[in-house]
Amino acid sequence: MTKEKTLEQIIRVNQAGEYGAKRIYKGQLAVLKGNREIEKMLESELKHLEYFDKQVKKRKVRPTALQPLWHIGGFAMGAICALMGEKAAMACTVAVEEVIGDHYKEQLQQLKKIKEEENLTLNIEKFMHEELEHRDIGLEHDAEKSFGYEGMKTAIKAITKTAIFLSKRV
Ligand SMILES: [Fe+2]
Ligand SMILES: [Fe+2]
Repeated sequence: MTKEKTLEQIIRVNQAGEYGAKRIYKGQLAVLKGNREIEKMLESELKHLEYFDKQVKKRKVRPTALQPLWHIGGFAMGAICALMGEKAAMACTVAVEEVIGDHYKEQLQQLKKIKEEENLTLNIEKFMHEELEHRDIGLEHDAEKSFGYEGMKTAIKAITKTAIFLSKRV
């Protein structure tokens, strides 16, 4: 893949992912109103999204055509988990953030080959650490004690990976 194509995919999928993250936390908060931990995570997703929104405009990247799906799907996933309780919402967070953390780590490997993208690399590195902090917040708030934790985590990870796969391409 050419350098341009790689960068285009990186920007598109990250903007889509941060948009999805925002919608997941909005969905969680629609049920678990005023939850401070979730509010903090939402605030950080909004900063991540703002950065990639700017990159999309600056680099004239076509945003994902699937945004309407992530708008509804992200919110629904967040809300459904939260309806099962705070621990289940935290399990949703652990699953999603673990996948996003890995995803950013993979991108940092790709970016090593592209020298003139220092700023983008530094931001992705920062965001990766923040996503892993979100995962840790989930673990600290008893995600693992939620009902059917392993199954739920596997399912949500699969959904998140599919969303990443599609948002790179579509
Ligand atoms: Fe994020
Ligand atoms: Fe996050």
